[in-house]
Amino acid sequence: MSSSHFIAVALFCIAFLLAGGISVSHAQLSSTFYDQTCPNVTNITRGVIQNALLSDPRIGASLIRLHFHDCFVNGCDGSILLNNSDTIDSEKEAARNNNSVRGFGVVDDIKTALESACPRTVSCADILAIAAEESVSLANGTSWTVLLGRRDGTTANRTGADISLPSAVDTLDTLKSVFSAVGLNTTDLVSLSGAHTFGRAQCPTFSGRLYNFNNTGNPDPSLNTTYLGTLRGICPENGTATGLANLDLTTADTFDNNYFSNLQVGNGLLQTDQELFSTTGADTIDIVNNFSSDQNAFFASFGESMIKMGNIGVLTGSQGEIRLNCALVNANSSGSESYLHSSIETRDDAEYKYAI
Ligand code: HEM
Repeated sequence: MSSSHFIAVALFCIAFLLAGGISVSHAQLSSTFYDQTCPNVTNITRGVIQNALLSDPRIGASLIRLHFHDCFVNGCDGSILLNNSDTIDSEKEAARNNNSVRGFGVVDDIKTALESACPRTVSCADILAIAAEESVSLANGTSWTVLLGRRDGTTANRTGADISLPSAVDTLDTLKSVFSAVGLNTTDLVSLSGAHTFGRAQCPTFSGRLYNFNNTGNPDPSLNTTYLGTLRGICPENGTATGLANLDLTTADTFDNNYFSNLQVGNGLLQTDQELFSTTGADTIDIVNNFSSDQNAFFASFGESMIKMGNIGVLTGSQGEIRLNCALVNANSSGSESYLHSSIETRDDAEYKYAI
């Protein structure tokens, strides 16, 4: 799985470079982009998220993940929000997104509020970028200056989602390739992985570590034994896939640097989390140690990396469009389909089959 993913990523990178690559330029994005046209865009977005958090403490985590999965596939163009249609194979239904990414309803609520305050102005891609920052801030985390002015794409790329999104069982080398394919370096990989300081993961994404790791008949040796017991309680060997574990076992819904101190004692939930610290000789170990001992260093690095991620492959100027409904391109946005609803909303705990 991991080596085939590595080869797929390598081939993708070559094709990508031959095609000229995604521009990581952010020359046309600006922090003041909506100052005249939608001055309350950030407050409106924050208000909707605050309200959603009252009934769903996980939603901020889900929203930042949507931005990440958007940016890694065709750039930050809102493509992950598009529904299937005659012309679109949605990214939502790609293996690494299906029954896993969530928060589409809240994105729709933000869009509705913004269409009411400033019609046809704020792109869905920018909504995801603002929502990511506000979600971190609302979880007592850090803030950064969000650059704005992205336009929405008119197509989705399901195959790209299969190739470009990392898997929870990738090796550290593969993770580095996946990130470098979009212009992000090893420090970006470690700091952005720190987003796993909040949110949840479903059993199939980590249960391969609990009983028969890599067909050894034993659990993953890098997993803390007390934590192993806890996780086995959540995900019994032959149980259903419905269990959910906090990605950060110490402060589940707070955005802090405990993710990194967890890794130092074998308490990383995903294999890919723990690899950052437990891969022998890896250059990521020092970065984990630094972020664990210095939350300000983590926060500063996280903000920088989020801005870099938010610049991947953006459409600006007259490229793309400002979608009226985040789930539909404007050409399909008339008639019965035009309601502000994403057709696919995932749930917290229904059984599902996850293609890790
Ligand atoms: C380094 C490679 C990464 C891998 C392999 C990975 C994988 C995963 C997996 C498997 C889950 C659980 C999904 C589920 O159970 O349905 C998850 C959740 C999450 N990921 Fe990542 N992720 C990575 C990087 C990132 C980055 C860069 C961010 C954001 C900047 C991020 C933010 C999140 C958040 C916040 C959640 C929890 C979402 C929720 O509770 O709804 N991840 N990730």
